[in-house]
Amino acid sequence: MENVIEIKGLTKEFKVLNRHEGIKGSFKDLFSRDYKIVKAVDDISMNVGQGEIVGYLGPNGAGKSTTIKMMTGVLEPSSGELIVNGRVPYKERKKNCEDIGVVFGQRSQLWWALPLVESFKLLKDIYQIPDKDYKDMLDIYGTMVDLDMLLHKPVRQMSLGQRTLSDILAAFLHNPKIVFLDEPTIGLDVSMKSKIRELILELNKKKNTTVILTTHDMGDVDALCRRIVIIDKGKKLYDNDIQHLRGFFGSYRTLKIRPKEEIKLAADELEKELKDLDIKVSISDDNEWINLLVNEDKIKVLDVLSKVQSLHDIRDMQLEEISTEEVIKKIYEGGI
Ligand SMILES: Nc1ncnc2c1ncn2[C@@H]1O[C@H](COP(=O)(O)OP(=O)(O)O)[C@@H](O)[C@H]1O
Ligand SMILES: [Mg+2]
Repeated sequence: MENVIEIKGLTKEFKVLNRHEGIKGSFKDLFSRDYKIVKAVDDISMNVGQGEIVGYLGPNGAGKSTTIKMMTGVLEPSSGELIVNGRVPYKERKKNCEDIGVVFGQRSQLWWALPLVESFKLLKDIYQIPDKDYKDMLDIYGTMVDLDMLLHKPVRQMSLGQRTLSDILAAFLHNPKIVFLDEPTIGLDVSMKSKIRELILELNKKKNTTVILTTHDMGDVDALCRRIVIIDKGKKLYDNDIQHLRGFFGSYRTLKIRPKEEIKLAADELEKELKDLDIKVSISDDNEWINLLVNEDKIKVLDVLSKVQSLHDIRDMQLEEISTEEVIKKIYEGGI
């Protein structure tokens, strides 16, 4: 597999003002020479091959967007090596743009007032897409989304979901080698999220496009990424196959129970009752289930279940593998 991205010891430092508190502080800031250096990206190395979909993950402020800005040529690295499609992005920013596509979360790259088809025609000119390739691409899009409905609608009249779809279609239109997606499903409802995921997956398959994806949505990661790279405070913590990561946590199961009692109350009680068993208690996002994260190397799920049943009335239960979200939480907590 040919590498389309090669990164070695990549570092980006920002010089930021040391802020002072209060009104006196902000007055002080006006004249201050009191700077500190923030290492937004700190000695990151990795290669990405043609056709890979890589989940680039980390908490807020980890350095994800800064890395993407360097890869797209918007920012110049402070040190280290960065080659994208055989070029140094910030030195050949224009050329670099011809071979990449970018979608930044809620900020659309499209012409607001124009129907989508007019934006497409402009992009066709800008990237000098041959007629045949343009037509082929629209044919492909037509098999994936309700294109007729989108093409004639001004972008500003679109729902967030339609706009995100359009942004993604626009990013792939000139058949770039790499597409960068920074939080593409943020703010979308469940069905639109799955539509977007299908679209990305199909375009990746059809065109062998490399995709670099940042997201906080573990559903995106589970649906799209075979490989994940996790960074925190600018440093790379993990870079491997997602299956490999799950293997590390293979002995973990999530026992989900639905109590008859009020859920928060039951969860608090369970937390106390199971304290000595090294079981993590949490409530699901939909507020329906209590999740018990059990390490089966230490205690069997069945033993946990009988203990829970002896203490509480249970309406329903389910058993699940550890979720990607929980795996990643464990990594942040230093579990690997
Ligand atoms: N232009 C900038 N000037 C100063 N600090 C910045 C700038 N851009 C980002 N940072 C800082 O760099 C760190 C990483 O930011 P960012 O790459 O946006 O993180 P992420 O995308 O992972 O949330 C943060 O501490 C952020 O405050
Ligand atoms: Mg970001």
